Amino acid sequence: MASGEEGISELSIADDDWGSAAPKLQRNLGILDADQIELAKGLLNEGQSHLFAHWPGPGVDDEKKTSFFNQVLRLNAHYPGGLTAYIRNARHLLVDSRSGKNPYEGFIPSVPSGENLRFGDDNFIMLEEVGVKEARKAAFVLVAGGLGERLGYKGIKVALSSDTITGASFLQHYIECILALQEASLELSNGGTIAIPLVIMTSDDTHMPTLNLLKSNSYFGMRPGQVRLLKQEKVACLDDNEARIALEPFDRYKIQTKPHGHGDVHALLYNSGLLKIWCDAGLRWVLFFQDTNGLLFKVIPASLGVSATKGYHVNSLAVPRKAKEAIGGITKLTHIDGRAMVINVEYNQLDPLLRATGHADGDANCETGYSPFPGNINQLILEIGPYMEELSKTHGAIAEFVNPKYKDSTKTAFKSATRLECMMQDYPKTLAPEARVGFTVVDSWFAYAPVKNNPEDAAKVPKGNPYHSATSGEMAIYRANSLILRKAGVQVGGPETAVFNGQEVDVWPRVAWKPKWAVTFSDVKKKVKQGCSISQRSTLVINGKNIYLEGLSLDGTLLINSNNEAEVKAIGSVQNKGWVLKPIDYKDSSFPEESRIRGFVIEKIEQLKMNYNEPGEFSLQ
Ligand code: UTP
Repeated sequence: MASGEEGISELSIADDDWGSAAPKLQRNLGILDADQIELAKGLLNEGQSHLFAHWPGPGVDDEKKTSFFNQVLRLNAHYPGGLTAYIRNARHLLVDSRSGKNPYEGFIPSVPSGENLRFGDDNFIMLEEVGVKEARKAAFVLVAGGLGERLGYKGIKVALSSDTITGASFLQHYIECILALQEASLELSNGGTIAIPLVIMTSDDTHMPTLNLLKSNSYFGMRPGQVRLLKQEKVACLDDNEARIALEPFDRYKIQTKPHGHGDVHALLYNSGLLKIWCDAGLRWVLFFQDTNGLLFKVIPASLGVSATKGYHVNSLAVPRKAKEAIGGITKLTHIDGRAMVINVEYNQLDPLLRATGHADGDANCETGYSPFPGNINQLILEIGPYMEELSKTHGAIAEFVNPKYKDSTKTAFKSATRLECMMQDYPKTLAPEARVGFTVVDSWFAYAPVKNNPEDAAKVPKGNPYHSATSGEMAIYRANSLILRKAGVQVGGPETAVFNGQEVDVWPRVAWKPKWAVTFSDVKKKVKQGCSISQRSTLVINGKNIYLEGLSLDGTLLINSNNEAEVKAIGSVQNKGWVLKPIDYKDSSFPEESRIRGFVIEKIEQLKMNYNEPGEFSLQ
């Protein structure tokens, strides 16, 4: 132990300041190496002597002591500025939180400018085309490190099926969408090859299951090298307003940790060197998205088109927001000192901010029936050049916050340990006022249906507000697909109302297609001819690139599978008993959890299944 002696003398000097821990540590110096001693000193200097107060002399629990320092080393390495910076930042934020400091003091809110999209109109189609061209210069980043506590599903969220009729998991669906975009973009360019990169941010809670899901499914058709997993680390929990680090109640050699939030994605991307690699390879866009939104890719091409045509450095996807709805509002904030930014203001902060700045009604709807501040859905498109430039200044550090649950109004003690958190969408907070920060508003029906809430909580959602459950997420996909086919000229029946897991939902025909069939609305229009109809009780799965609906009349269940060399025309009438949604009870453990959280199973009574695996032209009559 090269610097052991030095460690002993330095630890001895400030014995008094370091309280009772110093002698306990000193007795253990023989088992610590130089790095560990440095870390110990850093912790003691930051008022963390309690971490060692229970340490017995050497020879007792030595392995646990080493593993404690291994954890400290990791926590130190994964936070910009190390644990010292973390503890100091926490102290500041805890003081602000305790005093109820308004984070937007001095800022005046106003409605920023952005683009409103209407699905399927000429502008939308034009933007989709631009977006598909740009996709060859894009990289996708899926943040999938969240615990999903609200959903309470035992597996990882990306392994859940986005819909029951195809059974494709969210991850499979996302990858197939990216591959379809890749192919469409290649077709529009002058040849060459493209492999759109996909990064998945995982955490200790999700990393191995995500990797296993990919490996056991051959990366769902992506090249393994095209997908990169970056694991975020958790941060230390804090016991009190002095930011004293919390130990696990049942293991006093282990620091309690919790997720730091999806804001970690920026530092991980920067530190991995990937941004530089992408920049050098001529990529222009990074698209961030979340783990359970089965609709998102319906709006990706057009939104990317908005970024490209408007030259947005930051483009946040948003949906119309009802006043006081529990999603953040995208807001322009201008400070009296001249600073300005366009950021997400959390819904519970928007109302007081508006009231404090002369808007007597606070967070209220305007003449459109919606809040003038669009609702942030946390899907971001960043232009790589300016993004890299900014991160080279900040190293990816994102404004943090702390949200302790205090025991009482004195705000001196917490109900449970807290920690610092950061959010991906807070990235624009540090940008200069001249940065081009905009947003794209899209209707929820084709853009946003996340699966976040468990059935019991979803059933308690006030009427008119979205459930954001596995049930509503799946029904939203059928609704969107039905409405898109309607817009393309198909007569689509429905919807009918049903109640699953206590949630009243509209049930449209169960229609789903693989992304290779259509990745834009133009694709859908090209593949659907007039004179088609689909009844409300029908189920249709289109799994093949060259399948054309030409006068199909469907009343029942039809599944069409074809390979790329087959061209299939779906003509004529298909009628059978079809598939029926049968309600089940959430608590009925005889059903798999995947079904229980939806509140239904599909009874497959009768179907027509057509497979075309040979090259050639076929017609389904
Ligand atoms: P959510 O708001 O859905 O949070 O995260 P969550 O942690 O997954 O679920 P709850 O709050 O425990 O119920 C939005 C997105 O950010 C990711 C999630 O995986 C999801 O895609 N996320 C969240 C991370 O990647 N890391 C985090 O630390 C938190």
